[in-house]
Amino acid sequence: MAASQIEIRTLGSTATQQDLAPLFSLNQTVFGFDPENPRPNASLPEWQTRLSKPDAALTYAIQAQGSTEPMGFFFTYPILQPEIGHLTYHIWLAGVNPSSRGLGIFPLLFEETRKKAKEAGYECLSVCTVPMRFEKMYRILQKNGWEFVAWREGGEKVLMKMKI
Ligand SMILES: CC(C)(COP(=O)(O)OP(=O)(O)OC[C@H]1O[C@@H](n2cnc3c(N)ncnc32)[C@H](O)[C@@H]1OP(=O)(O)O)[C@@H](O)C(=O)NCCC(=O)NCCS
Repeated sequence: MAASQIEIRTLGSTATQQDLAPLFSLNQTVFGFDPENPRPNASLPEWQTRLSKPDAALTYAIQAQGSTEPMGFFFTYPILQPEIGHLTYHIWLAGVNPSSRGLGIFPLLFEETRKKAKEAGYECLSVCTVPMRFEKMYRILQKNGWEFVAWREGGEKVLMKMKI
């Protein structure tokens, strides 16, 4: 699928529960849900809280024509990372539906996020990932100009940043 056939849209603090539902469902498809150990990304109230932060955004991709099902999304907001020492625009969640991976959706979501963050005055993006679990994500970050900042959680999780 060519990039021109993919449309990027954004939701912010005014998003309704109905707006969020398909993205929340995609989140469950990508990351799963463990009822024994529910994580913050598996809670809709937590999504609403984080989306109410200034400049928070849910940026998502859909087919320009046809299905309105989201193919991939980023959930982003500003955060102060102690290891960085100033506000960065943080990618909290990034996920692409398994059936839509490898189509270039990640770079489209990334570019939209980078552009909006820069326009809003942020100098840096940040992201945390777990290389052992999210191998492709870690490879993408390493290949596309992200810098290592720190290991967290005993070396399981890595914090990375990129000047924009
Ligand atoms: C990681 C994930 C979001 C990537 O999405 P994707 O749609 O599969 O990625 P795409 O193949 O469309 O895009 C990545 C490619 O674009 C390239 N690319 C080009 N310019 C880029 C840019 N500016 N930024 C990022 N990637 C860029 C990457 O190098 C990569 O190429 P490669 O596969 O040859 O290394 C997706 O695989 C996923 O949801 N994985 C499971 C969940 C996950 O890991 N989430 C992140 C947790 S922190």
